[in-house]
Amino acid sequence: PRERGWAIPDLYLFQQFWCPSILIKEVNIFQKDFEAKDSDVIVASFPKSGTTWLKALTFAIVNRQCFSSFENHPLLSSNPHELVLAVEFIYRGDVHCPTIEPRLFGTHTPFPSLPKSIMESNCKIIYICRNPFDTFVSAMSFFGKIKLEPLSTLKMEEAFEMYCNGIIEFGPWWSHMLGYWKESIAKPIRVLFLKYEDLKEDANFQVKKIAEFLGFPFTQEEENNKVIESIIKLCSFEKMKNLEVNKSGKIYQFLEKKYFFRKAETRDWENYFSPYMREKLSKIIEEKLDGSGLSFVI
Ligand code: A3P
Repeated sequence: PRERGWAIPDLYLFQQFWCPSILIKEVNIFQKDFEAKDSDVIVASFPKSGTTWLKALTFAIVNRQCFSSFENHPLLSSNPHELVLAVEFIYRGDVHCPTIEPRLFGTHTPFPSLPKSIMESNCKIIYICRNPFDTFVSAMSFFGKIKLEPLSTLKMEEAFEMYCNGIIEFGPWWSHMLGYWKESIAKPIRVLFLKYEDLKEDANFQVKKIAEFLGFPFTQEEENNKVIESIIKLCSFEKMKNLEVNKSGKIYQFLEKKYFFRKAETRDWENYFSPYMREKLSKIIEEKLDGSGLSFVI
């Protein structure tokens, strides 16, 4: 099956997810050739769920010994997507696989489609998910800006119906979340499941949790020296959005860095949703997540 994408002309139903046509080859190679190491860390997400933020936090947590000063930290001169590369793009040849361990990667590939070598290794996966209402609004804005073909931008109503049918780059979003969610329940040592809203509410607690999960817990001395607070500040939306490096230029040669920073608010969906949309999406969430133990405060 083939469908129109939000930002690209074609999505193909590939291994039960809507894969952008331009990425099918890369995902295939990733599945075949990627050799995971036990020390690898994979930041996984559905697009527009807080990937940029989690990449920044993970990079800052894991590498904090190398960059003790927060004054000339790499996150001040590089975008998080340049420091934590999308693993699918490594096979396009325009970026190179990191050599320093632990290697950090990002991915939007759904859990069941991850390469065998990841499944068989002890590498760690951190997944971030976001309330599907806010993810929709964020995706509408982002995909509308980055459209890669001179397509007319999707109208909100049209995009909403596609979203409700799971048709969106890397969708259906419910299968994406549930794949990682179920693995995080079955193997909590392997997959840490986070929510964007929880990070917003108590970043300190979540950052400690990430550090412990990755095997890099904060020492008492670090806590006393307010290292956690410094990391949170460095990776904050306000700080990152206003950095020169994130205001202009592209990553992977086609994505404007500035589009990754919009509002970073929870419940922004209330500004866009009609009562019909609210009711319809609430029902879909209830139906799709029923019995899974995963839920969202709407
Ligand atoms: P909004 O469109 O709601 O503003 P992703 O990184 O997965 O593409 O997700 C993008 C969303 O995360 C956008 O949400 C963006 O503004 C928000 N975001 C980007 N950097 C952030 C940060 N440092 N802290 C919190 N949210 C951030």
